[in-house]
Amino acid sequence: MLVSGAGTNLQALLDATRDPAYGVEVVAVGADRDSIEGLARAERAGIPTFVHRVRDFPSREDWDRELTASCRSHRPDLVISAGFMKLAGESFLAEFGGRYLNTHPALLPAFPGMTGPADALDYGVKVTGATLFVVDAGVDTGPIVAQRAVPVEDDDTVELLHERIKVVERAMLVDCVGRMAREGFTITDRKVRFGQ
Ligand code: GAR
Repeated sequence: MLVSGAGTNLQALLDATRDPAYGVEVVAVGADRDSIEGLARAERAGIPTFVHRVRDFPSREDWDRELTASCRSHRPDLVISAGFMKLAGESFLAEFGGRYLNTHPALLPAFPGMTGPADALDYGVKVTGATLFVVDAGVDTGPIVAQRAVPVEDDDTVELLHERIKVVERAMLVDCVGRMAREGFTITDRKVRFGQ
């Protein structure tokens, strides 16, 4: 899994993996910055971690190649971006395309990017939510695995709304990743379906 911050989505998956019937093992956690709670959560769970900061590399492509190599070395079936605030590049997608998932705090294709809850609030939508999707070369444009709706309240703040989104987002992530691992999945004409 790849994280950049609090790692509550990571924690939800880690908690789910305690049940062997869930069928998922988190083999490593990578980040683009040090000293974040997401890495501390992985360390507490005894899971290997790695950090690659973009600014430590001569180019974004070099960073992307190193991220790809580190992920590859742990031989994951799926890579999950859970609040990983960096776009994967060509090397990464060449290796993990079709099996790199991202969770986003809005109902895509509405409000892509880094500020989904704030953008939804500013726009004045009455319903927003969370989307799990398979990453492609665009920004939050890949095939959608699942979506969950969250009503916007009259007195919402960005923080309150995002926290309510994150509650359904974590449940969606745990539910879908478990199903993908246990049942497999297919992607046909952008339609993601569980099962072989
Ligand atoms: C999640 O809500 C995730 O959807 C969002 O960051 C949060 C991370 O929370 N990601 C994006 O906005 C990506 N564009 P977490 O660190 O507690 O899992």
